[in-house]
Amino acid sequence: MKKTIYILGLALIGVMFITGCEYEFIARPLVIIDPVDPDDPVDPSLISFAGEIIPIFTTGNRCTSCHGTGGQAPVLTATLAYSQIISQGLVNTADPSSSKLYTYPKIGAGTHVWKTYSTDQAAEILQWITEGAKNN
Ligand code: HEC
Repeated sequence: MKKTIYILGLALIGVMFITGCEYEFIARPLVIIDPVDPDDPVDPSLISFAGEIIPIFTTGNRCTSCHGTGGQAPVLTATLAYSQIISQGLVNTADPSSSKLYTYPKIGAGTHVWKTYSTDQAAEILQWITEGAKNN
């Protein structure tokens, strides 16, 4: 009898021990490392300035015909566009749709009679500014 109680007691402690273990599965966010700058994780869902915004300015010299090196400010060449846009205050990340880079060459705005964005391009510019106007 004593032995049975002893075994039962041991079994009870065993069960408490096993159920006492907690497993926590921590979901770690997927971080993609930028091969160019390993310290700077890049979110691939963001609009890329170099990949999507620069070509709007430079393809077919759409904007760079006037806003080229030594031309009309802002200079929108691949190497200078970002620093020019930022230093001339052409984006407002607190109120993206008021950004001059967006409003100025927009279809129907009437401010930029030379060249305007297509509807898709305007949407991309706005999205890029909304995402923080990153030099990505
Ligand atoms: C035919 C020449 C020409 C082309 C092409 C052109 N621009 Fe301009 N842009 C100008 C001139 C001139 C000014 C300055 C006069 C003014 O503010 O209206 C200007 C001004 C601007 C400004 C305002 C700068 C400021 O500080 O006020 C922005 C932004 C701009 N352009 C963006 C663009 C973009 C983006 C494109 C391409 C879609 C483009 N421009 C194409 C001639 C051009």
